[in-house]
Amino acid sequence: MGTKIQLEEALQFLREYDGEATDKCFRVSSAQWAYSTNMTDSNKRKMVEEQTLKAKFDKVTWRKAVEFDWTRLPDPMARRQIRMLTMISRASLSDEKYNEIHHLISEMKDLYAHVRICPFVPNRRSEEPIYCDLDIGDAQKIMANSRNSYELLHLWEEWHDKTGQPMKNKFMRYVNLANQAAALNGLLHAGEEMELVYETSEFQDELAESFQKILPLYKEFFAYVRSKLYKKYGSDVVKPNGPLPAHILGDIWAQDWSQIFDIVIPYSQFGTIDVTDAMLQQGFTPLRIFQMAEDFYTSIGLKPMTPEFWRFSLFEKPTSRKVQCTASAWDFCNKTDFRIKQCTEVNMENLITAHHEMAHIQYYLNYVDQPYLYRRGANPGFHEGVANSILLSVFNPVHFYRKGLINNKTDSYEKNINFLMLMALKKVAYAPFAYLVDQWRYQIFERGVTRMNSDWWKLRLRYQGVVPPKLRTESHFDAAAKRHIPADIPYVKYYVALILEFQIYKAMCEAAGDKGLLHTCDVYRSREAGRVLSDILRVGRARHWKDVIKMFTRGQTDKLSAEAFLEYFQPLYKWLQRANRNEPVIGWMTDKDDLALYQSLVGLGFRQNASKFVVNTVIIFNFLIHMNLY
Ligand SMILES: *[C@@H]1O[C@H](CO)[C@@H](O)[C@H](O)[C@H]1NC(C)=O
Ligand SMILES: [Zn+2]
Repeated sequence: MGTKIQLEEALQFLREYDGEATDKCFRVSSAQWAYSTNMTDSNKRKMVEEQTLKAKFDKVTWRKAVEFDWTRLPDPMARRQIRMLTMISRASLSDEKYNEIHHLISEMKDLYAHVRICPFVPNRRSEEPIYCDLDIGDAQKIMANSRNSYELLHLWEEWHDKTGQPMKNKFMRYVNLANQAAALNGLLHAGEEMELVYETSEFQDELAESFQKILPLYKEFFAYVRSKLYKKYGSDVVKPNGPLPAHILGDIWAQDWSQIFDIVIPYSQFGTIDVTDAMLQQGFTPLRIFQMAEDFYTSIGLKPMTPEFWRFSLFEKPTSRKVQCTASAWDFCNKTDFRIKQCTEVNMENLITAHHEMAHIQYYLNYVDQPYLYRRGANPGFHEGVANSILLSVFNPVHFYRKGLINNKTDSYEKNINFLMLMALKKVAYAPFAYLVDQWRYQIFERGVTRMNSDWWKLRLRYQGVVPPKLRTESHFDAAAKRHIPADIPYVKYYVALILEFQIYKAMCEAAGDKGLLHTCDVYRSREAGRVLSDILRVGRARHWKDVIKMFTRGQTDKLSAEAFLEYFQPLYKWLQRANRNEPVIGWMTDKDDLALYQSLVGLGFRQNASKFVVNTVIIFNFLIHMNLY
């Protein structure tokens, strides 16, 4: 920390920063947009140029910011903003090491993006060639739809082997550099640095407390899902009392289990909601999907989309050029230009995604008059939390009924339980995973890289009750199968978002005066609910997130609290307790065979990766755009 304490000087610096940062943001997002919607070499080059300039600008900004002793600035606003600028992680490194860590991260992202795996070919005759060209999207489709445990195991192993091993050496160097940067900032390790953004020392306690609250529900849910998987796959694959193997949950990371809904559906004769057919019958188009989403927001008193939004957004996959199709919401930082990119097809999933992305645009529109540093969520979980809280109202039988997309309200008990089970497969299943990823990362930063893989599985077993389906050793690097690890993208924000999602939804439902069960609340057309939301959006990051929670819960709490989450799932929880009455173990029992799957004492070594990879430096600034990927 520096010695400057002149307020005038600090304010001058912040004014200049605001203008320049806004301009840089405009240039980077324009270049990123150009490339993402038209993937040519020349557009990529321009994007990388702008990103490199932005990285340099960040470093210069950091150098100026640390000349101030922010603790002694008399103005709280200036104090907080300067402090935020000193948190630009890694800028404390020398130019050489700063470049090295950025380069390493882009190399790892590039490696990850280019992983291709081999399909499962049983009884292959040796002369038949195999085309190993499945990418993560193909792999996920098979994980979702295949019910052949050999095929699932094959894909799981392929993906984990081919992402982990090439990444390992680079990741270890990255850990070392990130820790050096943290040490230069006076911190113990890089995990501490990643958490500074939450601006509270009670953060981990709050997370742990909320997770403990969710755990009884998770255990009931887990035991029920296991009993169904046991029936489906038998004792060769599933132990009746034990943890679950990671390959049969419908998802390569076992984080979202909704693809196995058909296996675990409580009342199969009752089905669940799907409005795709109705949308097709009613002649929906991509444009109409976005108009319907806009109508939702204006109905609760939020803002209509801008003319620029309708003119420049990309709603359909163009046929004449290559585009990057992940749905995302963009803020060009010039106060007028906001866009969504979504290769929209007419189906329910895209209808939901459109509402989600438009929630991000609402956030952008509402905090547009804040200074640059406050034009973001109150903490890194808020953007996703807000967007998903809206979805609880939209992906909701009551809402679809009101919009004429289903004929009869889902009021039977069985349909409600089916619906809540589907939601649990998405949300309850996800909670421990979202919680543990950064716990692992911080542990590695803190304790070192010698037991990276067994540390990973230790946490997955402890929180999720999931074990690897095959023997893993320290020569594997399974955490790298999740892109956020090699790509250096913080993860705990998704856990924060998951808790906030229900807290915010509950606050909106209370304001709307909804008296029914929480999961049936639809805030459509409620101005009162809209006010709760716009109050959150308008402040952006101008206030501490704990103040924001206090505001929208009307003083009830300033904590991340799992209460609303539990209330939402309460009918399912009761149902699960009855369904599980013959289950001997709620949760899972771990024996030494489970531990032996990853605790092997051999194989601590790793091979040096001799081949040099040629990559393009692509630094994606993850805070600029909100992508629907977690
Ligand atoms: C795509 O980018 C190229 C430049 O690389 C440009 O010439 C072309 O006009 C762009 N296409 C569209 C449709 O914007
Ligand atoms: Zn999002």
